[in-house]
Amino acid sequence: MQEAVRVTLLSLHRMSTPSKKSPASHPKKKSGKKNPLGNLAEVISFIMRFASAPTSVGAVFPSSRDLAKAMLHGIELEYGDVVVEYGPGTGAFTALLLERLPEGAEYIGIERDPHFHGHLQRRFPEKHFHLGSAEEIQELLERRGLKKPRLIISGLPFASMPRSVQEMILTATREALHDDGVFRTFTYPICWYMTGSQRFRKVALDHFDDHHKSRTVHRNIPPAKVLSYSKPVRKK
Ligand SMILES: C[S@@+](CC[C@H](N)C(=O)[O-])C[C@H]1O[C@@H](n2cnc3c(N)ncnc32)[C@H](O)[C@@H]1O
Repeated sequence: MQEAVRVTLLSLHRMSTPSKKSPASHPKKKSGKKNPLGNLAEVISFIMRFASAPTSVGAVFPSSRDLAKAMLHGIELEYGDVVVEYGPGTGAFTALLLERLPEGAEYIGIERDPHFHGHLQRRFPEKHFHLGSAEEIQELLERRGLKKPRLIISGLPFASMPRSVQEMILTATREALHDDGVFRTFTYPICWYMTGSQRFRKVALDHFDDHHKSRTVHRNIPPAKVLSYSKPVRKK
């Protein structure tokens, strides 16, 4: 594991260091192409956290801007809406979400890792990040006097969680979500048949009615799909 992280860091460093063949007097023109991994310092910080807590972080790289767009595709928020994000990490989804957050809408992030939590508070000082676990959502909303969220987006590594934790978080999510709200998470097709991933989808369908799977977002490492869930319609 340590060796894999060392090699990855080395290749990222090489990718970001200018080649000796291109003299400083002739700086290369910017190609306009964005690095799908985003900010290098954040990528390195993310990989270091993965190395120290692989199951809790659950991914080697932070999600891409393209995956963030897919996570928010078709979502229309309004004045007064509440949005909750589970496991923002370095803020890959947070940045786009906050760009699109309408005036008068509230955002809360819930992050369990103190290192990521500190990073988020510094990167988005005007927003509130709760240092704790996703299942505390209801208590947190009540404490802050907030309405039921219209959108809950999750970056949590559900596939590496035991069933009891998946159950606990999904129960709390269903109870907290607005009746017309949406719960979104993502999965890696490469892990689709892993036991934890299959179990998560099964547990999610015990809690939510509607399930929509997006097309694969290829500009993400590894490629990912967004899963959307809505609340079961109440029987009259
Ligand atoms: C795969 S990373 C995703 C980070 C970011 N959303 C992204 O897509 O790049 C998972 C994040 O979930 C956090 N996490 C794991 N379990 C959690 C829990 N029970 N409650 C809140 N955050 C949790 C980890 O600390 C990590 O920041």
